[in-house]
Amino acid sequence: MKKELILEIIQERWSPYAFSSTPVEEFKLKAMFEAAGHAPSCNNEQPWLFVYTTQEDKEVFNDYIGFLSDGNKIWVKNAYGIVISMARTKFSHNGNPNRHAFHDTGMAVTNLLLQALSFDIYVHQMAGYSVEKVKEYFKLGDDVEPVAMMAVGYLGDGSDLTPELLKRDENRRPRKSVNEFVFKNSLSDMAF
Ligand SMILES: Cc1cc2nc3c(=O)[nH]c(=O)nc-3n(C[C@H](O)[C@H](O)[C@H](O)COP(=O)(O)O)c2cc1C
Repeated sequence: MKKELILEIIQERWSPYAFSSTPVEEFKLKAMFEAAGHAPSCNNEQPWLFVYTTQEDKEVFNDYIGFLSDGNKIWVKNAYGIVISMARTKFSHNGNPNRHAFHDTGMAVTNLLLQALSFDIYVHQMAGYSVEKVKEYFKLGDDVEPVAMMAVGYLGDGSDLTPELLKRDENRRPRKSVNEFVFKNSLSDMAF
């Protein structure tokens, strides 16, 4: 059910399994990353890093597929692109731990996926991958943490998806009602 006060683009976002490998234009990819860079961040640290590949670099694309859990591999292989978000976990000005690095990286990703949707491009984020493999592949030090992997592309027809995955795309996923997660004054007082 649509809620009239909520921005349409927010309501229309969802995470599909049926991706098409139709190329995403480079200027759109660039705009998505530029949108990500507009996110707010603690001390304007902008702790996010993104590394991506596309079907056009098949060998690298397959390396990225190799980081994923088996359950994710089977549908991500159809997507045009794969993005990995990472967070620099120390402040650049003093080297202290930045406990907001994942939070800020997530906000940048929200910008990225809403900008993508403005082009009818969908993003499906994943935690189902090997953090260790990513760390090893990119030779990350202890100040950069992989955050999420994302499949990126135009919607596909799902023709080579299993019936189970196809079914997952049929309905939008349910949301908690606002009074389950918003409280006023104390955590026991419902706000709305
Ligand atoms: C950090 C993060 C990790 C996720 N990991 C996976 C994953 O490994 N595999 C998967 O199929 N979906 C994954 N998802 C997608 C969520 O299941 C999905 O966003 C959620 O069910 C809400 O659905 P919607 O995005 O279609 O509204 C992940 C989403 C986020 C934000």
